[in-house]
Amino acid sequence: MIPTREECLRLMRECGMLENIIAHSLEVTKVALFLSMELNKTGQRINLGLVEAASLLHDLTKTECLKTKEDHAQTGSRLLKRMGYERVGEVVAQHIWLGREANPSTVTEEEIVNYADKRVMHDRIVPLEERFNDLKARYGMNQKAMDYLEQLQNEIYGIENKIFLILQIDPNHLQHL
Ligand SMILES: [Fe+2]
Repeated sequence: MIPTREECLRLMRECGMLENIIAHSLEVTKVALFLSMELNKTGQRINLGLVEAASLLHDLTKTECLKTKEDHAQTGSRLLKRMGYERVGEVVAQHIWLGREANPSTVTEEEIVNYADKRVMHDRIVPLEERFNDLKARYGMNQKAMDYLEQLQNEIYGIENKIFLILQIDPNHLQHL
């Protein structure tokens, strides 16, 4: 079961998401859907409804987690699964950290949403490098945090290479969406 765009937007309001996080999520959705549609033209079989719902809802519980300090990928995933949105919950769970070996020839919904989120800083499409510089400035308060961000960055460059090798376009092309 996958919620429609309208159902997602309603849920986002009901959960009291901050306006700036909603704006971020809408932009992530735009990037994720563009990539999915282009990838499907090359023969990938990405579920567009799943990508749209998971992109819209990936930060569903982030607003409250700013206070509780919980992991919003996990709380968001749990909430969505409880509502019966199993696959959406799985994609949301992996939107920060993929934690699974990538298949070199197929792109998953998890990878698309994770990557799109890394290309949108606040509500602006930026190169990975700019987004990570910002993340390091905001969250890299110690060596452990910096190591974690470095690892995250390496993982996502691998995904970027895979996606854009398939698409045969430059990653900077997204800036013009
Ligand atoms: Fe997030």
